[in-house]
Amino acid sequence: MAEKANASGNPVAVVAGGSTGIGASVATRLDEEGYRVVVVGSKSVEEGKAVAASLHDGLFLQADLGEADAAQHVVTAVENRYGRLDTVVYAAGTTVRIPHSDIQAVTDEVWEDILRMNVLGPWRFVRAAESLLKRGGQGNLIVVGALAGVDTGGSSLPYAVSKAAVHHMCKLLGWALGPHVRVNVVAPGFIETRWTEDWAELRSLVTEKAPLHRTGRPEEIAEIVIGLMRSTYVTGQVVVADGGLSLVP
Ligand SMILES: NC(=O)c1ccc[n+]([C@@H]2O[C@H](COP(=O)([O-])OP(=O)(O)OC[C@H]3O[C@@H](n4cnc5c(N)ncnc54)[C@H](OP(=O)(O)O)[C@@H]3O)[C@@H](O)[C@H]2O)c1
Repeated sequence: MAEKANASGNPVAVVAGGSTGIGASVATRLDEEGYRVVVVGSKSVEEGKAVAASLHDGLFLQADLGEADAAQHVVTAVENRYGRLDTVVYAAGTTVRIPHSDIQAVTDEVWEDILRMNVLGPWRFVRAAESLLKRGGQGNLIVVGALAGVDTGGSSLPYAVSKAAVHHMCKLLGWALGPHVRVNVVAPGFIETRWTEDWAELRSLVTEKAPLHRTGRPEEIAEIVIGLMRSTYVTGQVVVADGGLSLVP
């Protein structure tokens, strides 16, 4: 077994889903805050390596977070290399686009894939990283949820349920893991990433109806992640960032 690293030095963050989109922006902001950042991705290997290379002290790890032992492998690699883990940001996620009224299209397989990535995925990180996060005394877990988990709507019914579930899980974890680890959620509305690039109809709706009359940028979600990390009296909360869309009746 590799010798354990010394825990001194700058704080360490893992960004699950840090290769692209919101996660990549979070990785960049954490780097600006002086973190050593571990970018985790599965398929977007070149993008993930490029994000890690753009950071002062970045590392890319390839892991399919749908697999049962992937989070543990990531955390063990982090412990061996750095001897500490201060922050986990879980921005990885999956969905399929199915109208909510199309009940017959939602097979067990659809449910299982979505719940595995969006609910079990962050849960497995919590189990794997609990002791390391607690060890530093000021650990942070931040999950990227979704407006779909707060309001009606979203790309599919299982996706919306998975985000509602992870929101509630984080509320319970805020309770269970205090005082050494704070757990919070940022729940975006429509953010311009590859995830939404062909969602023309919804983009028009948001631009027309939301009080801020535009869609969001990944950097704006990353800023909330940093804000939640700095907000030392906040835990178990869900912060919605949707340009005010949810205010519209
Ligand atoms: N964009 C929006 O409007 C919006 C709105 C609300 C919530 N969100 C949430 O924001 C998060 C990030 O989405 P995004 O918009 O930034 O889209 P994105 O760029 O497609 O990000 C999704 C990330 O999840 C990772 N991922 C997916 N399956 C994985 C697996 N099996 N193992 C490891 N990583 C995996 C992807 O990495 P690989 O490509 O390497 O697999 C990718 O980095 C998601 O949780 C999504 O639900 C997005």
